[in-house]
Amino acid sequence: MDDTTKVLLRAIRGEAVPHTPVWFMRQAGRSLPEYRAVRAGIGMLESCRRPDLVTEITLQPVRRHKVDAAILFSDIVVPLRAAGIDLDIVAGTGPVVAHPVSTMADVEAIRPLEPEAVGFVAEAVRQLRRELGTTALIGFAGAPFTLASYLVEGGPSKHHVKTKALMYGAPEVWNALCARLAEITLTFLRVQAEAGVDVVQLFDSWAGALSEADYRKYVLPHSAAVLGNLPEGLPRIHFGVGTAELLTAMGEAGTDVVGVDWRTPLDVAASRVPGKAVQGNLDPCVLLAPWEVVEREATRVLAEGAKAPGHIFNLGHGVLPETDPGVLTRLVELVHHAR
Ligand code: CP3
Repeated sequence: MDDTTKVLLRAIRGEAVPHTPVWFMRQAGRSLPEYRAVRAGIGMLESCRRPDLVTEITLQPVRRHKVDAAILFSDIVVPLRAAGIDLDIVAGTGPVVAHPVSTMADVEAIRPLEPEAVGFVAEAVRQLRRELGTTALIGFAGAPFTLASYLVEGGPSKHHVKTKALMYGAPEVWNALCARLAEITLTFLRVQAEAGVDVVQLFDSWAGALSEADYRKYVLPHSAAVLGNLPEGLPRIHFGVGTAELLTAMGEAGTDVVGVDWRTPLDVAASRVPGKAVQGNLDPCVLLAPWEVVEREATRVLAEGAKAPGHIFNLGHGVLPETDPGVLTRLVELVHHAR
């Protein structure tokens, strides 16, 4: 497929586009009845291991909403499980780790990821490549800080207290942990790239818990080790929540696009990442309001995004499960016909 026909890739490179490309984080998920139907009775990790199911779920929002990109259906903990870490994704909770990490011995027990152990992901990407035409395929992984947060806390957490206590209190253990996670993430993204994804997004969803100084000291080198060692020419998106103060540093980690949550207007964000494209940033809660509000807010996001070298329309974080999928379809039409 000719790259120049993929609107998402053109926007990333700052080239002229026929319309602003749009996709939604968590577009394949609980807001779709067809998703709930195919997932019925199948655990989350199990569904990620079945290439036919991954392909079907990844394609559902493309068919329904006509978004400009598909994002591989998987989870940030999939490569950790494939590297042998005992964890599960529990419905209604999220990832739960059997033996949380706290010591150097715990870190040394983490094995590298063998590419063959995520062969099911490569197979799904190859199937998707054949189906997608001019719709771009986005691969993804969790960044070292966000992955470390699950491993240290043992599951989802609000303030990442144990994670930050380890980072400040035992920096050698912290750095060893993040170095191993960076290696696993890099292997996972290389597998996806070799199988044919067009773009990768590195999710550092919880990095916004840190000050810029601590982000630069404890996290940026590890994320840069991932982003800086991907195949030449593979476009990168780097995203986190609550990262207004971190946008410049996240841009410096080595990315083409910086993902922005709803707190920072995109023109302000763009001024913090000179020369880079931005992605975002409608508040997912806006989609629960009447259409007039969605229209007004989406139009504002488009106007602010137009001031960046390139703009990919998205939400500021994932689609909420209670979102009416019809509103997402209508929003895609609005973005596509905005100029
Ligand atoms: O939301 C983000 O910040 C993106 C990064 C991220 C993913 N998984 C990527 C993902 C994070 C932080 C996770 C951890 C995770 N895994 C959580 C959050 C828990 C917390 O700390 O609040 C949860 C609930 C899971 C389990 C999970 N992942 C489920 C049940 C699903 C199915 C879809 C859904 O939303 O119900 C996923 C899918 C998933 N996780 C995708 C991605 C990029 C799918 C691709 C897509 O975006 O459509």
